[in-house]
Amino acid sequence: MMTEPRQLFSLEGRVALVTGGSRGIGQMIAAGFVAQGARVYIAARNAQACFDAAAALGPAAFALPADLGAIKGCEQLAGDLREREARLDILVNNAGAAWGAPFADFPESGWDKVMNLNLKSPFFLTQKLAPLLKAAARPERPAKVINIGSVDGLRLSDWETYSYQASKAALHYLTRVVGAQLVLDHIHVNAIAPGAFPSKLNQAARDDAETMSASIPAKRLGEADDMAAAAIYLAARSGDYLVGHTLVVDGGVTSARHPGGHRTKRPGRCGADRRAAVGQCGRGRRLRDSRPRGATRRRAAQSAVGHQPPWHRAWPAWPRDPNSDRQRCDLACGA
Ligand SMILES: NC(=O)c1ccc[n+]([C@@H]2O[C@H](COP(=O)([O-])OP(=O)(O)OC[C@H]3O[C@@H](n4cnc5c(N)ncnc54)[C@H](OP(=O)(O)O)[C@@H]3O)[C@@H](O)[C@H]2O)c1
Repeated sequence: MMTEPRQLFSLEGRVALVTGGSRGIGQMIAAGFVAQGARVYIAARNAQACFDAAAALGPAAFALPADLGAIKGCEQLAGDLREREARLDILVNNAGAAWGAPFADFPESGWDKVMNLNLKSPFFLTQKLAPLLKAAARPERPAKVINIGSVDGLRLSDWETYSYQASKAALHYLTRVVGAQLVLDHIHVNAIAPGAFPSKLNQAARDDAETMSASIPAKRLGEADDMAAAAIYLAARSGDYLVGHTLVVDGGVTSARHPGGHRTKRPGRCGADRRAAVGQCGRGRRLRDSRPRGATRRRAAQSAVGHQPPWHRAWPAWPRDPNSDRQRCDLACGA
């Protein structure tokens, strides 16, 4: 018999831990889980921010400050949770950071910091929490691990964020490797690859929504509802048949953007909107591609940031000034 649709998305009675839940995407997910009935623990380095975020979510949310940049922090967090809970139904490995610098002087510190937090810590936190996840897991109600990857791990980004992109691609793969192992214990591991969501980490989206939206097929940035809905889907009964999967939530950037650049109007048969745009009749004539051509296109490309055609501008190239350390950090570092 089919489960009642509302129950498919319920998290009533479940215990969840969201790393990096004090702001941004983690906070969106934590809020969604609380709304669906879960008891949610939030972990981040800034203790006050953790407590404030938990207080804002109400009595079903709790702060567990931890620095997950090293295994020690993962062990401490797992221990803190063990003191409070006998089982864990949902682990969301969300805490992440980015680092951008030109290839020639990309620093080891920017490599290690990002790889440790984005890739090593999801593995070891999952390992340390596996006993609690096993305690919750049943064949008819698997426990869940959700790794927050990125579209930057699925397709090339214009930013020189080498370790970030590599860490996210590896996290998607790790989701499959660990997923294949933990499914034996009825723990289902999946990932979400977000597109552009405004946050401290994605300051380009936060500070210039209009420009960035223009390059997204859905014509807008990701919103809290989009992220909460995807995470709830994976965490609840609704997502029980997904294992090792990466769910892309990006408004079409990865799958529905033309490789030659994003088009607002594709050449094709006349439609009412296209006729309005180009002033043509409705007799089904072929329309012209409205993107700039020839000399206009070359001029636009030369003046565009990073010598890219204007329809790529929303993801600007990394600033090339090697002395611009502050700029680098402002633009790319999550912390
Ligand atoms: N926003 C986007 O457009 C986007 C797109 C694709 C993927 N993502 C991914 O989504 C995740 C969240 O990103 P976001 O945009 O929400 O970033 P954010 O706003 O910078 O939030 C990052 C969260 O992680 C915590 N954190 C950072 N370093 C930590 C550490 N060493 N130990 C424990 N917690 C730590 C931060 O709190 P503290 O600073 O207090 O520790 C904060 O709660 C990341 O994995 C990111 O790669 C984001």
